Amino acid sequence: MRIVLVGPPGAGKGTQAAFLAQNLSIPHISTGDLFRANISKQTELGKLAKSYMDAGNLVPDEVTIGMAKDRMEQPDAENGFLLDGFPRNVSQAEALDETLQAEGMQLDAVLDLEVPEEEVVKRIAGRRICRQDSAHVFHVSYKAPKQDGVCDVCGGELYQRDDDSEETVRTRLEVYHTQTEPIIDYYKAQGLVVTISALGKVEDVTARAMEALKREDHVA
Ligand code: AP5
Ligand code: MG
Repeated sequence: MRIVLVGPPGAGKGTQAAFLAQNLSIPHISTGDLFRANISKQTELGKLAKSYMDAGNLVPDEVTIGMAKDRMEQPDAENGFLLDGFPRNVSQAEALDETLQAEGMQLDAVLDLEVPEEEVVKRIAGRRICRQDSAHVFHVSYKAPKQDGVCDVCGGELYQRDDDSEETVRTRLEVYHTQTEPIIDYYKAQGLVVTISALGKVEDVTARAMEALKREDHVA
């Protein structure tokens, strides 16, 4: 099963991806998390990515597409994957289609998470992530860690992402509307888009997503 998760920054893609990937037994592949892992290891890729991420802009396709492809070729992704944050513009979507077609594969669904902008801003403002693994995500009021500043999963230090400042969030939202939203129409033309509201409790959104994927026959 091959699924793409799309939605504005702060919509809850990473949060939902963790549960959906578990329910569907496929790996969660987040290009944002891959870049952040490179930043913490101080690789060349990490240094390059950081300059774009801190400004709220997309990392160039040349590096992003290669990195995503490498990850999708890992053995755990042989029978499917849940992509979070990739593709993020039409040329990445086309590159993904070409890669899959070359292997005789195709996407099963594109899950579009809808959240009003004022909610997205609240979710981002209170988000805290783990220094050891940026997939461990908390929120100061919606999902508070048991101990202030400490990750429930691995004990790592929680911090606020550098790109979660008000100004950078504004740019990220603009980039989402101008560059990422067009992929929704691109995938609508292929009949792949399943749109759900991502408002409400995390577990209710997961249930809604699973239901919608099954109802529309995208997932057996
Ligand atoms: P990325 O890391 O993908 O960031 P994003 O798309 O901006 O999305 P976020 O991670 O901010 O939000 P999310 O939807 O995952 O929400 P979350 O689950 O954390 O990308 C970062 C940067 O990397 C980009 O700006 C770009 O520079 C670069 N990049 C990445 N991919 C790229 C690509 N393909 N091409 C080029 N550049 C790329 O939830 C948010 C908060 O809300 C959390 O605190 C959570 O606890 C809380 N929350 C979640 N669900 C709920 C709920 N139902 N109710 C209440 N609170 C909730
Ligand atoms: Mg995320």
